[in-house]
Amino acid sequence: MPALRVFPDEQSGAVYAAAVMDRVMQARRSPVFGLATGSTQIPLYRQLVRMHRQGLSFATVTTINLDEYVGLSTQSPGSFSAYMERNFFRHVDIPPGARHLPQGDAPDLAAECLRYDALLSTHRLDLQLLGIGINGHIGFNEPSTSLSLKTHVVALQDETILRNSSDFPDGSNVPRQAITVGLQSIFAARTILLLAFGRDKAEAVAESVCGQVRTSCPASLLQLHPRVTYVLDAAAAGRLPDAGRLLALEEAAW
Ligand code: F6R
Repeated sequence: MPALRVFPDEQSGAVYAAAVMDRVMQARRSPVFGLATGSTQIPLYRQLVRMHRQGLSFATVTTINLDEYVGLSTQSPGSFSAYMERNFFRHVDIPPGARHLPQGDAPDLAAECLRYDALLSTHRLDLQLLGIGINGHIGFNEPSTSLSLKTHVVALQDETILRNSSDFPDGSNVPRQAITVGLQSIFAARTILLLAFGRDKAEAVAESVCGQVRTSCPASLLQLHPRVTYVLDAAAAGRLPDAGRLLALEEAAW
């Protein structure tokens, strides 16, 4: 069963997650972080940038992102690469050569997936950050009858495309495919932090924590990993049987 931390709001959840990352950075000479994108992670990146301005250096950190849209270049404003640049990379001191994302516009996607797996095989993730889709996806490992272990190209499901469409307000086509790391590299991480905020995540959170382990809810597989912590706000925890008690515990500790 994953550890659960329930905070009154997303800001205090983000402060907690950033403190966990800080601890990893203090403990490791060359920390490796698996990073995620999406609206959930924005308060966390803001908090990390704040900590950087107060003196925290990321100079020895390597980052490996989970996913990227197929067909988008790093310059495309809707790409995860541009998101990372806007929200995190341009504000901190991670060396450019130590920031990795899949290349969405690679001419040979199969070769790009192999390249990414080779990179992951030489960089053990100290901490993997995850968000969760309302359909239970992690990375872009969408619900299915079977799940891929390796980095692969995935056809995004309609509900994922619909949610992602807010990142493409100019009417440009929302990508229908992505490159995502597979479950093997997520599972190889020493520690996993899954962040979920807001009521629309409550069902997926409850299903993945308390439901059966099954490929139709990829996040439920996290029940099999020994060191997973869910960082939730009260709304995202709303369908967990113990939500009220967990929130009271957290408030008492702060
Ligand atoms: C993004 C990713 C996705 C998101 C998930 C939640 O890199 O891997 O799994 O974490 O779709 O997205 P938000 O946070 O926008 O609700």
